[in-house]
Amino acid sequence: VLRTAIVAGRLPASSQLPSSRDLAGELGMSRNTVNRALNQLIIEGYLSSHVGRGTFVNELSSTRTSPQGRSKTAQASHISTRGQALITQFSASQLEIYPFTPGLVDFSNFPLSLWRRLQDKHWRLSYPDMLDYSYSGGYAPLRKAVADHLRLARGMSPETDQIIITSGTQQSLELCSQLLADLGEIVWVEDPAYWGALKAFMSKGLTIQPIKVDLEGIAPTAPDMNGPPPRLIYVTPSHQYPTGSVMSMARRAELLSIARGSHAWILEDDYDSEFHFHGVPQPPLAELDQDGRVLYMGSFSKVLYPGLKLGYLVVPRNLASAFKQGHYDLNRPGQIPLQAALAEFIEHGHFAKTLYLSRVAHAEKRATLMDSLQPCLKNGVTISGVNQGLHLCVNLPKIVNDVQIAQRLAQKHLTVRPLSAYCFNRKDLRGLVIGYGYAPLTEIKTHGPTLAREISQAILELKVS
Ligand SMILES: Cc1ncc(COP(=O)(O)O)c(C=O)c1O
Repeated sequence: VLRTAIVAGRLPASSQLPSSRDLAGELGMSRNTVNRALNQLIIEGYLSSHVGRGTFVNELSSTRTSPQGRSKTAQASHISTRGQALITQFSASQLEIYPFTPGLVDFSNFPLSLWRRLQDKHWRLSYPDMLDYSYSGGYAPLRKAVADHLRLARGMSPETDQIIITSGTQQSLELCSQLLADLGEIVWVEDPAYWGALKAFMSKGLTIQPIKVDLEGIAPTAPDMNGPPPRLIYVTPSHQYPTGSVMSMARRAELLSIARGSHAWILEDDYDSEFHFHGVPQPPLAELDQDGRVLYMGSFSKVLYPGLKLGYLVVPRNLASAFKQGHYDLNRPGQIPLQAALAEFIEHGHFAKTLYLSRVAHAEKRATLMDSLQPCLKNGVTISGVNQGLHLCVNLPKIVNDVQIAQRLAQKHLTVRPLSAYCFNRKDLRGLVIGYGYAPLTEIKTHGPTLAREISQAILELKVS
């Protein structure tokens, strides 16, 4: 109904839509259904949602009504409506690189000269085959090294044949979307969610359905369960991105049972489990899975460096050959000399050593940041996600304007992300996502107190107003 009204011009550009509650009442539908439809229209570029202001009809969408308008838009930007949606929606991705930008890593422990030597060696050894595409899921010794690593580090038991080397999690997610779901099928994503995963699903034409996350991870409600079943379920169970909650064992069992009952595939993104600082890590869903419904993905972006562009996907045994074929047909993967250098880096213990040094450095940075933040931990301010990873989440009372705090900090050249920027339907989550991967320890010491002061100030202003 809404799409037709927008296309026909009955809902002009910039007009504000009623709240989802009012729309549900007017249309005689559940709020869940309305929210799902609104999200889809946002994803398709017809609408924009602005935290705290509401949902508005886009200029771009209205120009679809006339061929003239369409060509004007095309001339202006040369970008399709889908392309516009892909580059403008859900972007926490602007590249301001300042202390505390989440998602970035500290490269200072990476052994660059050793890495250069290894690469040189494998380039010298390269025989013509190694310059070809990589056909069977990646360079075999690297696939074996990854399987061995997962056995040791995560208690998993994959066979080498189940490992597919990809250009990182983004490609792993795209491949799963292409091979496991048809156009328009539903993917459950966490609310709030990792923007990179949303982009992967959007670009492959899937229907995104946000599912609330609580302290135990993704928490589907009765209306979610009674709606159309998902084909894919994307989760970050070890350290939910961005809230940092860890999925409980009960929730893991429930999710596996949902996947079994609805014939859905679980995409488990274990993006930062290498940085575990406290307590015993929960076993991955892929290890608990008895039905072959979990695809597990890891990345070398955080442990080594993002520009390496290498990650891996562990697929159930019966999907291995389809995935190898699909990966080859769709992506024409290559970089075998680079994969060979990485295999040797892992086999000879350099990976374990780098990881150890990096873990120690990040543990110190995490502790320093936590100390700095102590003074603001009152009046309903809490921290989550501290036991693992390279970021934590400061949770604020829900009436705090987290975007404003982030903007104030940006003026001081400190980048934190407002939690609301990662949310779909959550009006109850406000906070700051703070990374401690990128900044050196000295900068965390210098700027940590500024973070705490800005947070306390925002809470004080709330009380006064
Ligand atoms: C939740 C999440 N998954 C995965 C990744 C890594 O993705 P990639 O391997 O595509 O670099 C990141 C990086 O920031 C992330 O935040």
